[in-house]
Amino acid sequence: MSIFHKARPLQGQRALVTGANSGIGAAVAEALAEAGAKVMINYLEGRDNAEQVAERIRVKEGQAMIFQADVSQENQVESMFDVMVGYWGGIDILINNAGLQQDAALVDMTLEQWNKVISVNLTGQFLCAREATRHFLQRGIVPELSCSVGKIICMSSVHDVIPWAGHVNYAASKGGVSMLMKTLAQELARHKIRVNGISPGAIKTPINLEARDTPEEVEALLKLIPYTRVGEPEDIARAVVWLASDESDYITGATLYVDGGMTLYPGFDNVG
Ligand code: BGC
Repeated sequence: MSIFHKARPLQGQRALVTGANSGIGAAVAEALAEAGAKVMINYLEGRDNAEQVAERIRVKEGQAMIFQADVSQENQVESMFDVMVGYWGGIDILINNAGLQQDAALVDMTLEQWNKVISVNLTGQFLCAREATRHFLQRGIVPELSCSVGKIICMSSVHDVIPWAGHVNYAASKGGVSMLMKTLAQELARHKIRVNGISPGAIKTPINLEARDTPEEVEALLKLIPYTRVGEPEDIARAVVWLASDESDYITGATLYVDGGMTLYPGFDNVG
């Protein structure tokens, strides 16, 4: 008998992916749907892109809906969960993915830039995790769907361990996400809710488009990646599906670095 449970490991489960209109979030939404989940695609701006992600899911016979909400706003987060639970009767998986960069040297960084990044990247994850947990606890375990009551995956970054000069708001937010994730994992484990993190390295998404503008910039980036390729959103999506499925039951409070070895740098000279 196979040690693996199912071909479509998330069949019938309901997943919310924040910031799912582009980049990592879009690939994650599509992969979850392919694994059998119904997916709510949250977005703030870029309704057309959100619709396109939903359409790609529906073309493959999946179920998706889109919902506009600013994850840093408590009332908008609450409405989003109410709508999702109203339509689909519950939530089983939260992918806390929405995030942004507003880069500046410390001396030039405005309080607005600091607050914006902290409130979307960190407070947004707190608000969504709180709401998801309230719903998980109300519903309790549904053995036909999953052996845990709920799963939360917090998208962090290699910059939760690698300091990042010129991006103090972003690095601080991701360091915060890491501790948010571990503390929630510890607090919620006895309720059979699993909370884990994924820390992507350099992945080809709009967030770092400018840093990959020229061949020289790409070459400089590759010098930081022992695996010598820039990651694809699908590299992250596959890891998310696994962490959301019962295949990873008994893993909680862990961070998976999906970074081609970026966190192994320095000591890597890119020769030989
Ligand atoms: C950032 C990207 C960057 C990568 C590696 C990510 O968290 O959002 O802009 O390319 O870390 O430095």
